[in-house]
Amino acid sequence: MTDDLDDALWWRTAAIYQVYVRSFADGDGDGVGDVAGLRARLPYLRDLGVDAVWLNPWYVSPMADGGYDVADFRDIDPVLGTLEEGRAFIEEAHTHGIRVVLDIVPNHVSDRHEWFRRALAAGPGAPERELFLFRDGRGPGGDEPPNNWIADFGGPAWTRTTDPDGTPGQWYLHLFAPEQPDLNWEHPRVHEEFRSILRFWFDRGVDGFRIDVAHGLVKDPALPDFERHSRDPYLAADGHTHPYADLDEVHEIYRDWRRVADSYDPPRVFVAEAWVTTPERLARYLRPDELHTAFNFHYLQAPWTAEGMRESIDESFAALGSVGAPVTWVLSNHDVVRHVSRFGRPDHAQHKALSELRDEPFDLALGTRRARAAALLSMALPGSVYLYQGEELGLWEVEDLPPEVLRDPTWEHSGYTDPGRDGCRVPLPWSGQEPPFGFGDGAEPWLPQPAGWATLTAERSARDPGSMLTLYRHALRLRRAEPGLTGEAMVWVDMGEEVLAFDREGVRCVVNFGAEPVDSPEGAEVLLASGEVVDGRLPRDTAVWLRLP
Ligand code: NOJ
Repeated sequence: MTDDLDDALWWRTAAIYQVYVRSFADGDGDGVGDVAGLRARLPYLRDLGVDAVWLNPWYVSPMADGGYDVADFRDIDPVLGTLEEGRAFIEEAHTHGIRVVLDIVPNHVSDRHEWFRRALAAGPGAPERELFLFRDGRGPGGDEPPNNWIADFGGPAWTRTTDPDGTPGQWYLHLFAPEQPDLNWEHPRVHEEFRSILRFWFDRGVDGFRIDVAHGLVKDPALPDFERHSRDPYLAADGHTHPYADLDEVHEIYRDWRRVADSYDPPRVFVAEAWVTTPERLARYLRPDELHTAFNFHYLQAPWTAEGMRESIDESFAALGSVGAPVTWVLSNHDVVRHVSRFGRPDHAQHKALSELRDEPFDLALGTRRARAAALLSMALPGSVYLYQGEELGLWEVEDLPPEVLRDPTWEHSGYTDPGRDGCRVPLPWSGQEPPFGFGDGAEPWLPQPAGWATLTAERSARDPGSMLTLYRHALRLRRAEPGLTGEAMVWVDMGEEVLAFDREGVRCVVNFGAEPVDSPEGAEVLLASGEVVDGRLPRDTAVWLRLP
């Protein structure tokens, strides 16, 4: 938290806390988190010591994909609150010195969005359809989809419409669920609309936007068939170019948006959710006249080994440094298995989806120990850091949600084989001994919480000097107060192959990945440690921050 909200470069070093609004705190007792709950818990975020919050979409949405199917970008969903509450929240957050970043979803809208309803009603060939990607089908009677693209949640990326007279009609493209039709970014009206949405919220004091699917807006106009690389949907098979991910033309959109953000005082900022193949490709989004930062998924996916982490850190700095952009450090978000549950798996399995991970043996103590070390590593590195709600409590992925409560469209579109992402979206435990753990005092939370979270509630953690929360609070405080940790430089120090160590102006961060304990340098003072340091010796899977003599 900065007292001075005028610092225009805040985003280069900020600690940003991700709020999945529906699961943060329930203010009106309906079992779903909301703006009222969030406002009531602002003091918690202030005490945690974060500089900003990023809220997952709070707009009007039928919730086919947790709010990423937006029906109206200029209003808040009634289940979550009102525009007036949103305004009050932004103001109160600012009073606490916390900036507010919203989530913009420019690749697609909800199928209930006014534009899409009109496009459907208007029929083939109508100008209303040009705002989307409607095409005739292939094969006899146009019965087959226009190309072979697969939707991110599974199944074809095309859905056939029914014409107003009841006969089978054209198909429309949706890279995600059928309820999320893709917009046509070749149409000037789409550009105009998003500039206007940005201004709508910037005028209401919002400090920035996270950009959903930032790599996906522009498609190859020929919509050619696509041979995808076997595992990675964003990697084309050899010799093919990707027809909808990371096309060069997408950068023009962000140059335009940057001009909008820069027309404000202080300038507003952007963070890209861009799934691209290399840090070099990511850096292109962060050229000086484009976006400010991007999530570092390369780091999130790195294996928990000294070599794997060092490599991802080096590559990130090298690529992003070339365009002058700061690196971000991310361990978890609302789309991936919580990192306690990844790190508690055998090394090779850490960055897989839940459907692939759940058969691997899970060691909670190991996952927690590594998560503590990873938190200190991430918070010691120069750049900004993203914290996903609940990681500061040490929450694990809820892997045994009963099928009937699952809401993630992945569940349905995978033919009920992949439970998807609900396990990291379970409502937070705030207090008490049993569910709903103070999440709200009315209806049951929209996803059931495990009884085992009784030991991880915010209330209990705040009193426990050994809790994850206490570690995060200390780390965030030191990260701001310690002059050595505020600059943008670091140098690696060689302390052995299985150790990561780097210095930042008088402060050293050491992480031991190996079985052999590591000695701290003579005379160094321990500022903070993720585990027990006995006689200056650092055990395996432990990180320490030291002030050098
Ligand atoms: C990325 C978001 O983080 C994810 O939750 C969503 O399902 C897709 N984009 C589609 O909007």
